Amino acid sequence: MLTFLKKNLLLLACLSYLSVSAQSIQILDSGKNVSMRGLSVVNDKVIWCSGSYGSVARSIDGGKSFEWLKVAGYGQRDFRDIEAFDANTAVIMAISEPAILLKTTDGGKSWQRVLEDTRKGMFLDAMNFDRKGRGYVIGDPIGGKVYLAQTNDWGNTWQRVQAVYAAEQGESFFASSGSNIMSTRDKNPGYLFVSGGMVSQLYYRHQRYPLALMKGKESTGANSVAVRGNKAIVVGGDFAQDKRKDSNCVLIELGGNHPGFSTAQTAPLGYRSSVIFYSKKIVVCCGTSGVDISTDGGKNWKNISTQSFHVVQKAKKGKAIFLSGSKGKIARLVL
Ligand SMILES: *[C@@H]1O[C@H](CO)[C@@H](O)[C@H](O)[C@H]1NC(C)=O
Ligand SMILES: *[C@@H]1O[C@H](CO)[C@@H](O)[C@H](O)[C@H]1NC(C)=O
Repeated sequence: MLTFLKKNLLLLACLSYLSVSAQSIQILDSGKNVSMRGLSVVNDKVIWCSGSYGSVARSIDGGKSFEWLKVAGYGQRDFRDIEAFDANTAVIMAISEPAILLKTTDGGKSWQRVLEDTRKGMFLDAMNFDRKGRGYVIGDPIGGKVYLAQTNDWGNTWQRVQAVYAAEQGESFFASSGSNIMSTRDKNPGYLFVSGGMVSQLYYRHQRYPLALMKGKESTGANSVAVRGNKAIVVGGDFAQDKRKDSNCVLIELGGNHPGFSTAQTAPLGYRSSVIFYSKKIVVCCGTSGVDISTDGGKNWKNISTQSFHVVQKAKKGKAIFLSGSKGKIARLVL
């Protein structure tokens, strides 16, 4: 009996040691004068990134090598989000004045303008697409109303969303990781999104709900939301105090008439700008003060690195996880 217990304890100890030590962050590229906030992983081989100074990087060999390019005529633009559909096709988002979406179908050699809005005050924050080519782009409130446009053809043509969401005073959206709007299973509206600033709210099915996240400053609130089935996780905090580890993670139960809200029991170790579900239980988030993982669906988090990253993404058709951040840093997370 005793030997049996001892053996199993030993086995358990080994297993837990393995599960901790097995997580590693492998830097694939770095040392460039580019802030990379756009990341889209098509499968375990095809990775696209976008960032400042008109930069786009693409790998078709699982991150062994990246091909870097500057989009001609857009060398001073900041591409804060990218959505890629295969090795040749992607949409990139230039945030402001004018707000522009560009699409390539030849692996980044040429880009066509698919949306442009020249109004003063226009500032795009994030795009998201479902698996059928329906996509949304969200922008900061303009004239007090949230900017939203929709496509049904993989970003070739865009229409303004008719639903009008009046924003509150000082309420806005972050363009930190291209992930504060997500498609849902619902038909209309087929998305939810999260805000920050003076208030931080969830917009879901034409209603809005306050989020228990840091608020009251331009630098506070929700930065990213991940959705899997009826579960959603929101991360954020205060990017001006990126080590503060309270009020930075909210768990949401969707479905039913009213969403249910709770906060993480052990929060991530600071401000976080991006969150993804790897599986139902395994969730990863990152921000300028580090990377955290949860193995219980976001209730409890453990920091696995204090390295700075802006965005984390999992392969849409695959298992690989990648991260990107400042100075052209691109990494792979091995669980
Ligand atoms: C980064 O690149 C841009 C555009 O090429 C340039 O204007 C800027 O001075 C560079 N910054 C640094 C720190 O090298
Ligand atoms: C987790 O965060 C603490 C406090 O910042 C740090 O000392 C520790 O090295 C971190 N752990 C890892 C694995 O990075």
